[in-house]
Parts: sequence; C-alpha cells; structure tokens
Amino acid sequence: MSTTEVPRSFTRMDESTAEQWAVIGAETVAHQDRTADRVLDLLRSLDTIVDGFATDQLTHCLQTATLAERAGADDEVVVAALCHDIGKAVSVPNHPAIAAAIIKPYVREEVYEMIRVHQDFQGRHYYHHFGGNPDARETHRAELTSEQFALAETFADEWDQVAFDPNYDTLPLEHFEPKVRAVFHQARML
Ligand SMILES: [Fe+2]
Repeated sequence: MSTTEVPRSFTRMDESTAEQWAVIGAETVAHQDRTADRVLDLLRSLDTIVDGFATDQLTHCLQTATLAERAGADDEVVVAALCHDIGKAVSVPNHPAIAAAIIKPYVREEVYEMIRVHQDFQGRHYYHHFGGNPDARETHRAELTSEQFALAETFADEWDQVAFDPNYDTLPLEHFEPKVRAVFHQARML
C-alpha cells in the first residue's frame, strides 16, 4: 500500500490498528462542527411542537435565550438556555436529561446542572396540578453548590417560566447561530 492510500478500516474492533484509529480520530475532529449543525436542525424541528402551550417550543427556547442574553448572561448560559428544551424533539418525559447530555461536554458544570434540573425547578408552577411536589427543586439543594442552585433558580424563575409570550420581541435563531457554533466547536472533555 502506498503512503497516499487511505488504509481500509477494520471490520471488528479487536483487529484495529493505531493507524486506523489515527484516521478515525482525525476525521472525528475534522467533523466536529457537525454537532452545531445537528443542534440547529433539532432546534428548528421544535417549531412543530406546541402541545397546548401558547407558543411552539422553538419560540419558547428562543424567548428563553433572548431573556438570558438581555439579562447579560454569558454565551454558554445563553446557548444552554436556547437548548434547554431541545430534548422535547425526541421525548418529552426525559427531555431535561437529553438536553443536559447534549450540552455536557461543551459547557461548565453549573451550566450543565442548570439544564439537568430545570424541570424540577419549573415544577413550582405546575407539579401540583399533576399530584407532584411543587417544591421539587429543594430535592436538588444538597447535590448542588449554592452557586449552581442560584443559577438554576435564575434560569427557571426569570427566563424559562416567563418565556411563553407570543407577543414578546423574541430574537430569531439566526441571531444565536454564531454562539451555537462557537460553544459546540470544541468539547471541554470527551
Ligand atoms: Fe422551558
């Protein structure tokens, strides 16, 4: 085989070589920006999900991010706010865990936690309608630092729970696209 040929990859992992893994590693890094493309596609797909709310879920996510940005939140927080309900594109019951897992490698821990716990913090306003505990946020107090808890409260109380207004001056997805691409450009950890 000449040095210019791409080595054929393995058909089973227990026969893989360092060369083959070097190719896969380089290809994976070269295609990292696919993540932002997929996230943007998922966000766009939320415009078909209404489920009885006053706004579709894309508008809700955009409005949450708009409120966060206008409050002076940093880019990781704004992008996380934008993506906080992205899990609803796949499955509503476990949507916080899906969204948190998607952003985890790309944001600092308190931002990951803000998304992971967001439904229980929102529960203050509606869990009792379903027989649940409206103080569910308190079950997270011991596992979060005071800074993490405070950020999760700010997110839930000031940006998320008020972001269902179809008449609000909500910024479009294009406005947030550069921040989405910047945050998902490089993982903090693998
Ligand atoms: Fe939300």
